[in-house]
Amino acid sequence: MGILIQNGTIVTALDTYVGDVRTEGGTIVAIGSGFATEPGDTVIDASGQYVFPGGIDPHVHMELPFMGTVSADDFETGTAAGVAGGTTSIIDFVIPARDQNLMEGLAEWHAKADKAVADYAFHMAVTWWGDETAEWMRRCVQDEGIPSFKTFMAYRGAIGVDDYELIQVMKTARELGALTTVHAEHGDMVVELQNSLFAAGKTGPKYHARSRPAPVEGEATNRAIMLARMTREPLYIVHVTCQQSIDAISEARARGQNVMGETCPQYLLLDDSVYDKPGFEGAAAVMSPPIRPRGHQEPLWGALRSGILEVVATDHCPFNQVGQKDMGKDDFRKIPNGAAGIEHRLALMYTYGVLEGRLDLNQFVDVTSTRAAKIFGLYPRKGSITVGADADLVVWDPEATGTISVKTHHHKVDRNIFEGFQTKGTCSHVIVNGRVQYQDGDLRVERGAGRYLERTLG
Ligand code: URP
Ligand code: ZN
Ligand code: ZN
Repeated sequence: MGILIQNGTIVTALDTYVGDVRTEGGTIVAIGSGFATEPGDTVIDASGQYVFPGGIDPHVHMELPFMGTVSADDFETGTAAGVAGGTTSIIDFVIPARDQNLMEGLAEWHAKADKAVADYAFHMAVTWWGDETAEWMRRCVQDEGIPSFKTFMAYRGAIGVDDYELIQVMKTARELGALTTVHAEHGDMVVELQNSLFAAGKTGPKYHARSRPAPVEGEATNRAIMLARMTREPLYIVHVTCQQSIDAISEARARGQNVMGETCPQYLLLDDSVYDKPGFEGAAAVMSPPIRPRGHQEPLWGALRSGILEVVATDHCPFNQVGQKDMGKDDFRKIPNGAAGIEHRLALMYTYGVLEGRLDLNQFVDVTSTRAAKIFGLYPRKGSITVGADADLVVWDPEATGTISVKTHHHKVDRNIFEGFQTKGTCSHVIVNGRVQYQDGDLRVERGAGRYLERTLG
């Protein structure tokens, strides 16, 4: 007794074929064709539909204390919104405060994540360097199933690190066989530009983008790559947005350095006109790095298609316009940085990637699921359709159309940066750990059903 998905077009990062998938007790137990139904089976007729491995979003921030407030989706609502859009696993970031014990931060994140409806893992952000930090990093890798570390080159005076600290993280991660990930923006230059814009009376949301132009990111990406080169540490660059960063990653890879890059739908699909909306509306798209001017988006698609960028995450980090973003009504420096996106990643990448010929179906699966599983040590349990893998599956109706809106999304936030975007293709069924948790618009998730995923890198 389990779930039998019949006659679907099964799509993995490598193959596309018509077949049946049987799951039992949270695991894929058979893949083939012509399977007979068994008593008690839940049967899903997937004729004319695709079957994908559940999406993996390796960059989200649920319930994150940040810039004087807390991101609006908690682990329950955020993972539920993910399930509604076909994402069945997340990797969130433990972000301890500067001077906080990293292990104490981890305990806080475990307590918050207990209510997740889908499986979750953590990266550990190293927000400061002290006598005990290397030992905490060792415990993360060897005892806690966290073999990836996050560093912020931005956010000076808060969670950002300086170059000395970044070098220590890279060196220690290298010794531990762990992966360093980096938010690449020149923190001091951001402060300088923010302050001079503000002093000139430029206070609105659009000056957020002006204070963080592409060279701010490009410089930091280059610097992080060079530091990783000198410490011989692999590097994963989160939320890449611009040509300069693509060029830096591409050059590094061409000379044999292990540098990986991620981008997000908002950087592929929006341009900086989002900051010209009337009144304070541009604040909804205030995030770091900011949405770029026209001209950066097609190179990002090209980098994804050619494998220079390998992962599409969301950086899901929503803040309400009313009560949160408006903390920066008179000062763009105080607008909490971040926006929602976990629910729409697959539909946007399918509509604007696959249907517009920028990605093929296998690339779509790779960038939304399989590659993240491989890079971050979840594969083949996650990100694959193989016997023995977790039964996290998406049955995808390629004909269904929709319009993204704050009125219908499951994110717990009062704006949607993709408002009005048309989509074609959506989940008809989402199976999480062998249970159908979403079917034809009906979300039936279970608070606390998500499990913590310990990871190891191969
Ligand atoms: O604006 C953003 N991206 N907020 C979340 C924190 C981060 O930098 O990823
Ligand atoms: Zn970031
Ligand atoms: Zn982030």
